[in-house]
Amino acid sequence: MSEEQGSKSRGAGLLKEPTPLGPTGRPMTIFPEPLPLESHGPARVIAMVNQKGGVGKTTSTINLAAALAEYGRKVLLVDFDPQGALSAGFGTNPHELDVTVYNVLMDRKTGIRDAIITTDVENVDLLPANIDLSAAEVQLVNEVAREQVLERALRSVTDDYDIVLIDCQPSLGLLTVNALTAAHGVIIPLTAEFFALRAVALLVETIEKVQDRLNPALAIDGVLATMYDPRTLHGREVVGRLVEAFGDTVFETVIRRTIKFADANVAAEPITSYATNHPGAEAYRQLAKELISRGGAP
Ligand SMILES: Nc1ncnc2c1ncn2[C@@H]1O[C@H](COP(=O)(O)OP(=O)(O)OP(=O)(O)O)[C@@H](O)[C@H]1O
Ligand SMILES: [Mg+2]
Repeated sequence: MSEEQGSKSRGAGLLKEPTPLGPTGRPMTIFPEPLPLESHGPARVIAMVNQKGGVGKTTSTINLAAALAEYGRKVLLVDFDPQGALSAGFGTNPHELDVTVYNVLMDRKTGIRDAIITTDVENVDLLPANIDLSAAEVQLVNEVAREQVLERALRSVTDDYDIVLIDCQPSLGLLTVNALTAAHGVIIPLTAEFFALRAVALLVETIEKVQDRLNPALAIDGVLATMYDPRTLHGREVVGRLVEAFGDTVFETVIRRTIKFADANVAAEPITSYATNHPGAEAYRQLAKELISRGGAP
């Protein structure tokens, strides 16, 4: 009898090719090449959030933007971190900027268009930040509708772009709440390590509070595992846990750990142009395709 069962399963095996499993333990989807857009805007706004530092928020903002731009999407990047790492990532010297997102938030005479700059990457514009922004967190407390200041500022330019990505600082303070209020969706970058999972519960709580009180339509677009090392059991286990906790919210695309991201950052370029054929560049192209096919970007 056992022989019969064995031959049955061998027969079934012949009929059906086993589907290869991706790093998240689910069958890999082949995402279609995005079709060109016939017109632009209004933009979908996505906040890149994790209050834990160094998880790949800025790296993912730069490279997802560059990949979306390669598919003809017009992207506005908002540097919402007083460290100005996103601005530096495009070769601007944040300390030499006269007009930044800080002025747009705090000075009613500064329009957002006065602060937006173009970058060397086609289809990518930047609303830069520098250390001035650290004062905004305190000053905003006394503003009327203090959680909606960024949303109001973005409103006048969203028709010019297909996607706005906001690179948040590692905190759940008032600036991040402004980003969550202005956004349609959240992407949560997360390093594939156990201790990184703990931060997510608090973040999800904050997102739920913003949904309750300020922005009912806010969606979690996806959880993105970064700095993944497929050679370690640990990395694979963490990604498995992520899928247990978040199900299909976890992007099938996983970003591997590679020094090329730091190299590209030193060169002030996205990896898609710095090392265009590198697997890291391909990973962010795949993420762009996955986001578009999920409806997270036009
Ligand atoms: N996939 C990766 N592989 C290896 N190194 C990476 C990867 N992604 C990012 N890094 C590096 O890790 C460091 C932190 O990344 P990044 O600045 O993107 O994180 P962050 O979440 O924006 O940090 P912060 O919370 O301080 O703003 C950087 O030096 C970056 O070059
Ligand atoms: Mg950052």
